[in-house]
Amino acid sequence: MEARVTAHSRYTIADIDKRLYGSFLEHLGRAVYTGIYEPGHPTALPNGMRKDVIDLVRELDTPICRYPGGNFVSAYNWEDGIGPKEGRPTRLDLAWRTSESNQVGIHEFAEWAEAAGTEMMLAVNLGSRGLDAARNFVEYVNHPGGSQWSDLRRQNGRAEPWNVKLWCLGNEMDGPWQVGHKSAAEYGHLANETAKAIRAFDDKLELVVCGSSHSDMATYPRWEATVLDATYDQVDYISLHMYFENYEKRTSEFLALPEKLDRYIGTVSGVIDFVKGSKRSNRDVKISFDEWNVWYHERKNDAKRMREWNWPHAPVLLEDIYNFEDVLQVGCIINTFIRRSDVVRVACIAQLVNVIAPIMTEPGGSSWRQTIYHPLHLASRYGRGTALQLDVDCATYVSNVSEAVSYLDIAGVHDADAGTLTFFAVNRHSSEAASIKLAVERFGTIRGVEHTLIKHDDLEARNTKDNPDNVSPRKTSDAVMDGNSVSVSVPPYSYSMIRIR
Ligand code: AHR
Repeated sequence: MEARVTAHSRYTIADIDKRLYGSFLEHLGRAVYTGIYEPGHPTALPNGMRKDVIDLVRELDTPICRYPGGNFVSAYNWEDGIGPKEGRPTRLDLAWRTSESNQVGIHEFAEWAEAAGTEMMLAVNLGSRGLDAARNFVEYVNHPGGSQWSDLRRQNGRAEPWNVKLWCLGNEMDGPWQVGHKSAAEYGHLANETAKAIRAFDDKLELVVCGSSHSDMATYPRWEATVLDATYDQVDYISLHMYFENYEKRTSEFLALPEKLDRYIGTVSGVIDFVKGSKRSNRDVKISFDEWNVWYHERKNDAKRMREWNWPHAPVLLEDIYNFEDVLQVGCIINTFIRRSDVVRVACIAQLVNVIAPIMTEPGGSSWRQTIYHPLHLASRYGRGTALQLDVDCATYVSNVSEAVSYLDIAGVHDADAGTLTFFAVNRHSSEAASIKLAVERFGTIRGVEHTLIKHDDLEARNTKDNPDNVSPRKTSDAVMDGNSVSVSVPPYSYSMIRIR
């Protein structure tokens, strides 16, 4: 299969916000306890945080991490997680039917985030609580001192405010499963009033209002229209979530799903413009795609186990073990975000450790990179700069979600400072290699090219504690320069990063 791709220095999409490569950590399963936090672990720092995990997160160069939920936040009292640890209450977490010991709260998470080199993105509870708890939390986190909540933070050992910039107004409030679920009108009103209060505190903060939990919700996209109509002047982002499933094991259909993602982003972008136009507004609202990933391997099993268990603390939950096929999917999802980076400014893989995560840990033992760690790592490290509007000419296939899915999924990024052009390419063809002719126009002389490949003959191949590098990237020397073009052949069902200097 032949594929012609042209990049031109004048055809750009947007400067990518580095927060496109963000992540998410929820009090859920073993994400926090025995994930990032495990006092007594051989690598534990004095504060109980696992250094081996911090190192893997640092390697990912995670720019932002959303916390503390997720569904968890909608019945969370943030005050339970402050003060001496021995005095903190154990609560029942209604979202996941587990117990929460509160041994990790905002102080511990903030320390961890600093060590991991990531910024905090915090969510307030607009499910079981409301404006008052939210404004107190913002004051506790961001006010220097001289007020009840900021002085309490100082008393609890943190003199300087954390100055968290990005705040989520609740989580998935359109979902009937959410504690304190609301109609779009109810939520829109509450979110707007809460946003006004937070802005009265500091109008430089960035606020994220909840959009739809996925594009199959019955209320989508009217939810977005109603909520934005109520909040447009007070918010900066609308959040979207999407998880990808392959229960039927039909790879070509699975790998076509990013077309649906693209349409979701396009539709919500249209709704934003509609509301902006209706309000004769000059301000822009963008998308924070703050939950996305493949999630289906353990999903049904988990739902059954949860119904039967008796409020365990930090149980195994949502521990999907990813395979090579998921590498291709994650590659296509990130490519979609790069191509939509004019409107998607923030995106968070859900989640970071143990829970539908690129990083796995064994209690008391090792930590390792799941298969999906690798495309995320490559994109986060090398996908920063200006997104390019590529011209792609390649054969397509018909799927349930689109009449024309390009076998070659490709995104390109120009990093002017580093003098590099980086292309991320997924070959969605099951049996044919893609012979790519990559023309780069008006970027200057090509000095060199590198090809990094992730390929495994078994779509089901996984990385495990005992075989952690089974699916991992390797450098090849098969990319060839020819004037202002590069030729490279990418194998069937493969992920590639092609980097030109
Ligand atoms: O990431 C797992 C869960 O998925 C989150 O708690 C929730 O927001 C979403 O439904």
